[in-house]
Amino acid sequence: MTDPNALVGLETRDDAVVYALDPEHAIVQTVDFFTPVVDDPYWFGRIAAANALSDIWAMGARPLFALNVVGWPAQKLPLEQLGEVLRGGAESARLAGISILGGHSIDDPEPKYGLSVTGMVHPARILRNVGARPGDRLLLTKPLGSGIASTALKRGLAGAELESRAVELMAALNRTAGEVLALSLAVHALTDVTGFGLLGHAWGMAEGSAVRLVLAAQAVPVLPGILELAARDVVPGGSRANLAWVEPHVRFAPGLPAPLRQVLADAQTNGGLLAALDPGAAERVLAGLRTAGVQAVEVGEVAAVSPGDQPGIDVR
Ligand code: CO
Ligand code: CO
Repeated sequence: MTDPNALVGLETRDDAVVYALDPEHAIVQTVDFFTPVVDDPYWFGRIAAANALSDIWAMGARPLFALNVVGWPAQKLPLEQLGEVLRGGAESARLAGISILGGHSIDDPEPKYGLSVTGMVHPARILRNVGARPGDRLLLTKPLGSGIASTALKRGLAGAELESRAVELMAALNRTAGEVLALSLAVHALTDVTGFGLLGHAWGMAEGSAVRLVLAAQAVPVLPGILELAARDVVPGGSRANLAWVEPHVRFAPGLPAPLRQVLADAQTNGGLLAALDPGAAERVLAGLRTAGVQAVEVGEVAAVSPGDQPGIDVR
């Protein structure tokens, strides 16, 4: 990456790229799409679009507009269903306060949907997934469990209650959380919890910030029923791979149950924001989030790396 206007690129696995236009304006750009996580095409569209938008808020930015990205098996599935997917996507865009202005579709053996989203941020206000400092408090704005819930749904093992909770959770925009956190001016590092799970995204923050993140496992919110499903091995392959990948960087408290370890690495669809906050502002920001209707929870703190030790995660 040699372009001097590229302020954030791929180097720390951040959520989106940021490109400076002038000293006061930078473009934030992201693209995200995937195969259906739920059967209902309208809710698939809602969730996929909300998930793509999330990376804009995770940079402290605001979205401006989006483009649809569509793969559709036109011979196998009726176009009315694609219409429902796009209607869901448009609803998430409306809730984000933006419009979908165009897009591109191809014939594809498997349905795929998502957005390319363009946002804007002041270059001095960019929030990155790095920059956490020792003493910072860690907040998480949504409970975990959507990956395991989706797998349970596909295998017919989820009840109606879990289904509606999981769909609601995955479709919920990170807009309010992102706006409150950006306005607080107290965030040192921010990311959204998606495919790599809480531990995977926390590891990205720890490594890039050269700190240790100390998570209080019992404080991490989890959808009801998810730990039981994990104990029965109802776990997506991606979440299993996450745990194997991140484990060399994590010290689990002895006796921390295996299902809980797995849930902490569960691949999330449009999961919550993970923020490292200035400790002096943590209570105020937490209260602000709750007043705005975001069920944010403090899940731990940031610690310095002791001499001879490595950046990583401690789960207590
Ligand atoms: Co992200
Ligand atoms: Co993304």
